[in-house]
Amino acid sequence: MNPLKLSSGTTIPAIGFGLWLNKDRETCIASVDAALKAGYRHFDTAQYYKNEAFLGWALASSNIPREELFITTKISNENQHWTDLTPSFEESLKHLQTDYVDLLLLHFPVTELRRPAWRKMEEIYEAGHAKAIGVSNYTITHLTELLAECTVPPAVNQVELHVFLQQPELVKYCQDHNIVVEAYSPLAHGEGLDNPVLAEIAKKHTKTPAQIMIRWCLQIGTVPLPKSETPERIRQNLEVFDFELDTDDLAKIKTLESNLRTAWDPTHVA
Ligand SMILES: NC(=O)c1ccc[n+]([C@@H]2O[C@H](COP(=O)([O-])OP(=O)(O)OC[C@H]3O[C@@H](n4cnc5c(N)ncnc54)[C@H](OP(=O)(O)O)[C@@H]3O)[C@@H](O)[C@H]2O)c1
Repeated sequence: MNPLKLSSGTTIPAIGFGLWLNKDRETCIASVDAALKAGYRHFDTAQYYKNEAFLGWALASSNIPREELFITTKISNENQHWTDLTPSFEESLKHLQTDYVDLLLLHFPVTELRRPAWRKMEEIYEAGHAKAIGVSNYTITHLTELLAECTVPPAVNQVELHVFLQQPELVKYCQDHNIVVEAYSPLAHGEGLDNPVLAEIAKKHTKTPAQIMIRWCLQIGTVPLPKSETPERIRQNLEVFDFELDTDDLAKIKTLESNLRTAWDPTHVA
């Protein structure tokens, strides 16, 4: 699993463990334990997910050295107010039982708040409490605005990306501007796993449709963040480095594009 280089100079593991909707304390801790055993070291939480404390507890009790872990959290929309962002981040650090995160994201491009909020993100980065800063759900328009006025450019844009929502222009724009794309909902939130095209490609490689979806994200140079609470699936979602999709597979996957959004739609946000 080769890590990707971020513009901050740090690296990010190629796959992250998603934690949205993993809200029950026992289940969350058990799934983070299973993920650590399977080999995940990259965890994607958010203030909005209400599980930072469970993740922090599970990681602290694992005794894995902090420097071997990669922790991302995100500033909730309501905490993007100039005066609220830093205190809310300090709360997140307490929950996570750490004095820094590896990646801090603005969760969404909130129209009136995102520009001053970025200045606060830069202060946190400059103080060393976030090793990298980035954004989530930003379109090319939002990124162009940010790149024109920032001091520290975003290292990452985390967006919904899967075989049914391929976003090639956004991926290219990010890659051209040295912004790593994280693919959230890489399994389309569980929708489409019974798609016959995926089933055929999966059969050919003796893999599952979920593994095909994750592998596709890796092959287009993005960092997938699959979520599962099921130990067998948690393991399976990491077993994607022993095969490669060929040009024929990639051409078939291209036809699956259907503009399927399972989470936010930021395309009309001014
Ligand atoms: N920045 C944002 O705005 C944003 C928005 C959405 C998501 N995200 C991030 O992206 C992560 C992943 O997205 P997501 O949670 O929407 O969903 P996802 O990873 O696309 O799909 C998760 C669903 O697929 C099932 N699943 C997982 N592995 C499977 C496998 N191998 N075979 C069959 N089914 C499988 C899971 O079930 P079980 O859990 O029951 O196994 C769950 O129902 C989130 O957890 C979060 O970290 C970020």
